[in-house]
Amino acid sequence: MKQLSAKVAAIAPSATIEITNKAKKMQREGIDVISLSIGEPDFDTPKHITDACIGALKKGETHYAPSNGIPELLAAISEKIAKENKFACEPDQVIVTCGAKDAIYEGMEAVLNPGDEVILPTPAWVSYEPCVQMAGGKTVFHPVNQKTFQLDDSILEKVNAKTKMISINSPSNPSGAVFDKKSMKLVADLCEDHDLYAMSDEIYEKLIYGKEHISLASLGDMAQRTITVNGFSKAYAMTGWRLGYAVAPKPIIKAMSRVQQHSVSQATTFAMWGAVAALRGDQKCVESMRSEFDRRRKFMVAELGKMGYTCAPADGAFYAFVKVTGDDNKIATDWLEKGHVAATPGSSFYAPGWIRLSYAASMERLHEAMERIKKVGGK
Ligand SMILES: Cc1ncc(COP(=O)(O)O)c(C=O)c1O
Repeated sequence: MKQLSAKVAAIAPSATIEITNKAKKMQREGIDVISLSIGEPDFDTPKHITDACIGALKKGETHYAPSNGIPELLAAISEKIAKENKFACEPDQVIVTCGAKDAIYEGMEAVLNPGDEVILPTPAWVSYEPCVQMAGGKTVFHPVNQKTFQLDDSILEKVNAKTKMISINSPSNPSGAVFDKKSMKLVADLCEDHDLYAMSDEIYEKLIYGKEHISLASLGDMAQRTITVNGFSKAYAMTGWRLGYAVAPKPIIKAMSRVQQHSVSQATTFAMWGAVAALRGDQKCVESMRSEFDRRRKFMVAELGKMGYTCAPADGAFYAFVKVTGDDNKIATDWLEKGHVAATPGSSFYAPGWIRLSYAASMERLHEAMERIKKVGGK
């Protein structure tokens, strides 16, 4: 038989999904595994959102919709962006995608030519590099300062004639760090000085604890060169709905639309009606989930501190990023096999020596997880 695609063979499987699968296998075997390895809110989608979706289904919203999204959702997103993210956005600068992940994939396909380089500050979430790779580009990793988790001038050393884009994610998965104004300004200046595009994944913007979220596109002329990625999975507990979106200059949206038209066609029609309710409805549900995450975050960081671990600044998202001195893969394997706690080694995020623990689990399970980690140990 002829060889399958070399391009796809070169792409690593998603480490977070692999570990979760291993944990699920242990669970199926009857082992009580506490799964802190995946980035998924443990809350149900708020009722007014599911009701809107059910209402749409009952009304017969089960047909094809415009590929970029239903006009009602495009309008709701563009209003949200102008109001909250503070940059101008017309509805035709928006594309609704099958999750933020799909927006990242389409965005990379739209911008990159073979050999183009994308600077990726690390630690970084697992899917950016594969999306760059699928689009024929090359990822250039740039480790951030591992104390402050902010950017500094050293990132300039990564820029060369092949650099096409910088891809950032604040609040960050996996570190929980939030880029401050200085880091954001540095990215904006870099893009303006070297004529680069930017991708700014802001999916955790609502899950932030005492810090200010700054949208990259709100700085200088960045709206002309930025793909802002966002979605409904994290803020509204809608992971399974597979709904995300991108906001970008019109030529980029047009190019992304081509990819979308010939791949997934569109996001699910009735699901988009749920998203309209999410954006237009009462935002109290977001705040109540955020404050519960905040309570868990404080607990986790304090408990880990008592055990002698330090964490990256847990200012956003729902992850404690824990510094370990031994081999992170081995320690995470011990935690899973001996302690039955699933965590993700930092190596999966290009940051060996760290382990990511999600605190998107009930307080009771987090208490139990801390006890188990204490028993297994491993620093
Ligand atoms: C930083 C980041 N971006 C994007 C995504 C993808 O989210 P979605 O469920 O909208 O595809 C995730 C999910 O884990 C994430 O952590």
